[in-house]
Amino acid sequence: MSSQWWKPAVVYQIYPRSFADSDGDGIGDLGGIVQRLDYLQQLGVDVLWLSPIYPSPQDDNGYDISDYQDVDPTFGSLNDFDALLAGVHERGMKLVMDLVVNHTSDEHPWFEESRASKDSPKRDWYWWRAEPNDWRSFFSGSAWEADQATREFYLHLFSVKQPDLNWENPAVREAIYAMMRLWLDRGVDGFRMDVINLISKPPGLPDGDSAALNNCGPRIHEFLQEMHREVFAGRDAQLLTVGEMPGVTVEEATLFTDPARAEIDMVFQFEHVQLDQNGRKWDLRALDLRELKAVMNRWQLGLAERGWNSLYWNNHDQPRAVSRFGDDSPEHRVRSAKALATVLHLQRGTPYVYQGEELGMTNAPFASIEDFRDIESLNHYAEAIAAGEDPGRVLTALRTKGRDNARTPMQWDASEHAGFTTGEPWLAVNPNHAEINAQAAVADPGSVFHHFRALIGLRHSLPVVADGDFTPLLADDPHVYAYTRALDGTELLVLANCSSETVIVELDARGEPLLSNYDDDPQDGTLRAWEARVLRR
Ligand code: NOJ
Repeated sequence: MSSQWWKPAVVYQIYPRSFADSDGDGIGDLGGIVQRLDYLQQLGVDVLWLSPIYPSPQDDNGYDISDYQDVDPTFGSLNDFDALLAGVHERGMKLVMDLVVNHTSDEHPWFEESRASKDSPKRDWYWWRAEPNDWRSFFSGSAWEADQATREFYLHLFSVKQPDLNWENPAVREAIYAMMRLWLDRGVDGFRMDVINLISKPPGLPDGDSAALNNCGPRIHEFLQEMHREVFAGRDAQLLTVGEMPGVTVEEATLFTDPARAEIDMVFQFEHVQLDQNGRKWDLRALDLRELKAVMNRWQLGLAERGWNSLYWNNHDQPRAVSRFGDDSPEHRVRSAKALATVLHLQRGTPYVYQGEELGMTNAPFASIEDFRDIESLNHYAEAIAAGEDPGRVLTALRTKGRDNARTPMQWDASEHAGFTTGEPWLAVNPNHAEINAQAAVADPGSVFHHFRALIGLRHSLPVVADGDFTPLLADDPHVYAYTRALDGTELLVLANCSSETVIVELDARGEPLLSNYDDDPQDGTLRAWEARVLRR
């Protein structure tokens, strides 16, 4: 059983490509991360999660891995990795790697061997069929690709260059576990498991909705329990494991994260990041705060007794939180970024900060399709235009939901390219880096950065934040996010007005003020624009 050290911990996600470039090639790297470790320590986070740094053709920015046991030269070397890991550990932090094992790159030697002939010993390491079924890729088009060598089709739930591994084959699983043990032996502190709920495919691969059919397939719990036995057993107390699981339900999540079942520590659920769409991600719909609270509250209550939540607004696949759930206008950006952070970080679960979220970084002003780099956005654009959709509407959807919003370079200072690189950045820097940048934020005690520091400090110092019960309040209020946390006679009241109007709440808002995004606390039920208050009583 794990010691659950991660309950009072906060994780910071680094997308290495966009974090800091130390060699001027316009792409972030491990040396760049090393240079910024003091900044991360100052923020106060406990764990760093690195998006993939392994050798990769970079079709999906490293989520297409061609060698699980090395570092892509763009990011550095294994020596650089060891130096980074040592620097992280010296500062009392931990390092979690991305584990992408639903699929490999089509340039991984396993796949090259598999595709070479029908008799290849690795043929059965992937999914080959004489005829495709009707599944669709998450990145547009069919999930099957015809391969010339053997005139059969292989399965790729993501890009054509991301063939799905066949987890039914025990040799595949053993190879993956061996690779995971190597990284743990090297000193890493856990894994974030990419789309891990998709690894158990439905028997016979029947026609139908591929996202639904592959979600939590029949052997998923068996596979994760086996992984736990083979990889984590005996050393899990020090590790953190989190499974990314699009489509997972609360009921499944309690099974995945129940410590007694020895699977994983926590999952990333997706319900709250799918509320501003009608079915497809690209069919935009206005967000209703009541729905957001209802989803978050259901997860809070559903995992109250058994299991554990991970808490996030942002990651490298999501638009920027302040532009999506907040108000990124100059007037409200800082307060709304703080309000969103407040209501997220004081819930029960482990909060995740995505690089730049602690600065209130915003979506980017992409002018045309040429400004986008992400394969998901580019494929969608090509497919939608070919289907006759209006280009203006398609672009609006990409600007609102496209993943490149999260991937513009980290804004370190006001200089050209925001101090991210001395070269030409692989994706343009957001022009608002003149105002929104780490240097300015660290120097300003009223910044979003210092509000995050304070929230992280509360989690570290107050047991009620890490362990307290959660009670939702004002569920039907369209503007106010409110809840209490309680433990051993201490209660925290968390209140935030998620609108730019002044509102009045019908509850007792008195208590010892712990944190606010306004200078004064009127101790009443009036909440000004985006006002967030944390009270102890
Ligand atoms: C989820 C990752 O977060 C995303 O960036 C990636 O494109 C897909 N999985 C495929 O690996």
